[in-house]
Amino acid sequence: MRALVTGASQGIGRATALRLARDGSDVAVHYRAHAAEADAVVDQVRTMGRDSFPLRADLADLSSIDALTRQLQAHWDTLDVLVHNAGSYPRQSFSKTRDSDFEEQLRIHAVGPASLTRHLLPLLRRSVSGRIVFVSSVLAFEGSRRGSPYATAKAAQLGLARSLARELAPGITVNVVAPGAVDTAVLAADSAQQREERARQIPAGRIGTADEVAAAIAFLASPTATYITGATIPVNGGLRMG
Ligand SMILES: NC(=O)c1ccc[n+]([C@@H]2O[C@H](COP(=O)([O-])OP(=O)(O)OC[C@H]3O[C@@H](n4cnc5c(N)ncnc54)[C@H](OP(=O)(O)O)[C@@H]3O)[C@@H](O)[C@H]2O)c1
Repeated sequence: MRALVTGASQGIGRATALRLARDGSDVAVHYRAHAAEADAVVDQVRTMGRDSFPLRADLADLSSIDALTRQLQAHWDTLDVLVHNAGSYPRQSFSKTRDSDFEEQLRIHAVGPASLTRHLLPLLRRSVSGRIVFVSSVLAFEGSRRGSPYATAKAAQLGLARSLARELAPGITVNVVAPGAVDTAVLAADSAQQREERARQIPAGRIGTADEVAAAIAFLASPTATYITGATIPVNGGLRMG
């Protein structure tokens, strides 16, 4: 199995890259800015006996996707798993947003993944069990009080995932994992009090871990998940049900 995980230098992407490697996949480790961290993930995957290499691209810059694809193709001519995980969650009130904030978030979460998927389709179609997994957010469904560009882009991403699930079937499954609050750099700015308040709102009584999200992604990415497509698995400790 060969997998590409976007945004794998840290957080959920890093946990997913390591989990897929542990499950027996070779893993291409995409990152944007944290090269040393991405190299460390590559080293860890190689330590598990799997092939791995880093790939750099800013998904907000659509012109970088051609180069990303060419770099991947220099290593592999097939791809089994594509995990669209890369993302950022800038927070500001709606009145302070600019049109460019919306455009950037849409590029990172929807247009970039659409472009990357299109570029990699010939490789995915060569797989006997092509898998695409999008990392969404509970905010795609609920909206965000201080992150309207992000919530808008995550909702657009959901439309993309479901459209691809229809259009790429049969042959390639396309599914979504929608985390709630997960302990990564995204929540690093929260105070201890904000974290406690967050945890109180979650039936599980705590913030989730990147490994818990990676486990759901790994299941959807596995060859055993043959009859699941267009589905969304919430990984949110019960924060949002249904
Ligand atoms: N943590 C949460 O509470 C939470 C909740 C719901 C959904 N999510 C979603 O989960 C995914 C991963 O988030 P995380 O919490 O693991 O965040 P994280 O620790 O901040 O990691 C984000 C990853 O995405 C990459 N990235 C960010 N902007 C990028 C861009 N413009 N182009 C390419 N790569 C970019 C980063 O690369 P560099 O570090 O190398 O720049 C990094 O590898 C995101 O899609 C996020 O929306 C997270």
